Parts: sequence; C-alpha cells; structure tokens
Amino acid sequence: MTDLFSKFDPLIEQREALLATGVKDPFGLVMEEVKSPTVAICNGRETILLGTYNYMGMTFDPDVIDAGKRALDEFGSGTTGSRVLNGTYQGHKECEDALKDFYAMDHAMVFSTGYQANLGIISTIAGKGDYVVLDIDSHASIYDGCKLGYAEIVAFRHNDIEALEKRLKRLPADAGKLVVLEGVYSMLGDIAPLKEMIAVSKAAGAMVLVDEAHSMGFIGPNGRGVAEDQGVLDQVDFVIGTFSKSVGTVGGFCVSNHPKFEIMRLVCRPYVFTASLPPSVVATAATSIRKLMHGGNKRAHLWENSKKLHKGLKDLGFKLGTEEPQSAIIAVIMPDLETGAAMWEALLAEGLYVNLARPPATPANMTLLRCSLCAEHTSEQVDRILEMFAAAGRASGCLE
Ligand SMILES: Cc1ncc(COP(=O)(O)O)c(C=O)c1O
Repeated sequence: MTDLFSKFDPLIEQREALLATGVKDPFGLVMEEVKSPTVAICNGRETILLGTYNYMGMTFDPDVIDAGKRALDEFGSGTTGSRVLNGTYQGHKECEDALKDFYAMDHAMVFSTGYQANLGIISTIAGKGDYVVLDIDSHASIYDGCKLGYAEIVAFRHNDIEALEKRLKRLPADAGKLVVLEGVYSMLGDIAPLKEMIAVSKAAGAMVLVDEAHSMGFIGPNGRGVAEDQGVLDQVDFVIGTFSKSVGTVGGFCVSNHPKFEIMRLVCRPYVFTASLPPSVVATAATSIRKLMHGGNKRAHLWENSKKLHKGLKDLGFKLGTEEPQSAIIAVIMPDLETGAAMWEALLAEGLYVNLARPPATPANMTLLRCSLCAEHTSEQVDRILEMFAAAGRASGCLE
C-alpha cells in the first residue's frame, strides 16, 4: 500500500526541525480570552493583537452584537439549508440589501465564506474554453476557482501592467476572458494599479473581477475599496469581498451590475450545494456593513496608525514589504524561517501577536511578520508595539 500521506513528509520534517530548535508552534496559538478587537489573553498573558483582519474593529461593536443576539433569539441558531431551498431568511435578504447600498450596485449575492465566493463566481462564469488572466500572487481561492471551472489559467507578473497587456494580446480575440485582480495584496500589503489594469483589460474585451477583501471598509472615500479610490469602480464587472475582515464576522459576497447576475443563484455550485449562513451571522454582517458606511473617522484613524507603524518600523531598521504604507497591512521581511519564527516568539513573549507567513503562501519564498492594524488601536498601543519590536528585534538577533 502506498501511504497517501507520504507526499507531506518534506513539510513534516521541516516542521519538526523548526520545533526542535525550541521555538513554540507559530501555527498553534490559542486565544484564551478575547477582551477587545485589539487585546487578548494568550498563554496567560495580556497580548496586543496586531495580526487579525479586524481592520475596522467591528467585532465588539455594541449594535453589531445586539443584532446578532436578537437574531439568535428570534430565528434560531442555524438555517439547516441551502440558500435556494429553506436557507434564505429575511436576514439574508437584509444583508444583501446592505451590500447593494454599500457599493451602490444592483445585485448582491452572499456566500458562506469569501473563499466560496471566489470559488463559486470564478468557476461559474469562466468555464472550459474560457481564459482567466490573473496576477501570479493571487489568493488561493482565486486559483481554486479557476481549477473548479476548468478555465485556462494565464498568470502574469505581480502588478505588472505591461505583462497583463501582453498576455491578453496573445489570447484568441473571440474567446471569453476574465481578468482577476485584488485591490490589496495581503502578503505585502501593496495595492494594485487597478485604473491602468482595468483599462488594458477592457481594451482587450475582457470582463474584470476585483477581490477587495483587504480594502473594504477602509480604502476609498466610502470604504468601497481600491477600485473606488482610483475612480474605476463603475468599470468593474464583479467585486468579491468577505465578512471575515473589516465586517468582523464570517461570510463572503459578490456585488455586480451585470443585468443577468441573478441567474448565478441557480448555477453557482458553491452557493447552491452548501448551507447558508446562520441568522445571527447575517444580522451582525448587515449591521456592521451599514455602520461602515459612516466609518469616515475610523478610516482616518486607521490611516494614522498605518503611517505611524510603517515609519516607526522603518526607523528601527526593519525591511518592509512596501516603501510607503499602502493599506492596513505592514509586512516585515525576515531573512529566513528560523529567524522569523524566533522573532515571532520573542514578540509574543513581549505581549504582541503578529502573523508569521511563509512559503508557499508568500511571494518569492519570503518569510514575513505580517502586521495588520485596527482602527481601534490607540496611538499609545502603536508606541508600545514599536517598543516591543525593538526589544524582540534585539533578543532574536534581527536588530543590532
Ligand atoms: C484576497 C482574499 N480573498 C478571499 C479570502 C477568503 O475570505 P474568507 O476568509 O471569507 O474565506 C481571503 C482571506 O484570507 C483573501 O485574503
């Protein structure tokens, strides 16, 4: 018998070698208590959270929590069914209405996760014989969506407008083409030149899908994302998003102005063949989305935090993923996995949690300490975070 697990041996060995150095398992952290969007108890110690996607700090918003509790009382704990059978409650419709208002678009479709939104939309609209042209650093859910639909995948170099144009020009003129872009790329926290890329895509007759998972609520005058910020939202055919970041719960969605969009509810398998979100989740999401429409002050404070942390880390001598802060994510580039894991552990010992990211999730085989800021971080917390980076940097040998 061939052990089907033998393909994982290299990863098992790498993990065992890392743990043998005495470092804690960076992927096994348990939050024993969560006190607020920015503070939790980890290993019995009060810890500042700098590695969540809770960009707008909505998880403890009192209105959001009230809405969830009320829905739990009135509609029960779950729907036990698909959206197209018994799984569409009033709350799912209200959530889709909130999304339509938030984006000022005609159609909104809520999925159980953002992963399923990409999986479903991409695989359903781009099938056999069609082409999906995507940035090589695209999220796993985008790649998986392409595979599920059997479309031809054509990747181009990260954020390279000319490379995108070249790839598009090589495709048959009459073939179906979908260009898939992200507003913010979550590993390095850099944004896409959507304006130029969308112009090139439209000139080649392609439809455009933009995943705004990491920009919703924060980037753009109304928090609609990078496409809004660059003035091209009206040229985007499909916006994908998630409730698991700025919205502060779980779920995914697609919004669109395409006149035939509603047919997706009958043909999109990751929408049809899975249970819908629980009533409490859609109630929290709808309340959060409506509050994010008036989140101007929070957005301004989050930008201040991002700028302050970026400058502080740069001044300390860390190498960062972007020259200037472009989003709420600031990636600190580590020389290798061992140093990254040691630094991650030293930060945790100081009372700071960040995300350790490593290949294959990262571009160019990089090990990263990804810091994601929250609108609820105070300026004093950012000062404290910088002190902890300085101390951990010295303790782990990252800084002189
Ligand atoms: C760019 C991007 N798209 C989609 C997703 C999936 O979102 P969800 O957590 O809702 O499945 C993520 C989450 O990591 C993401 O970063």
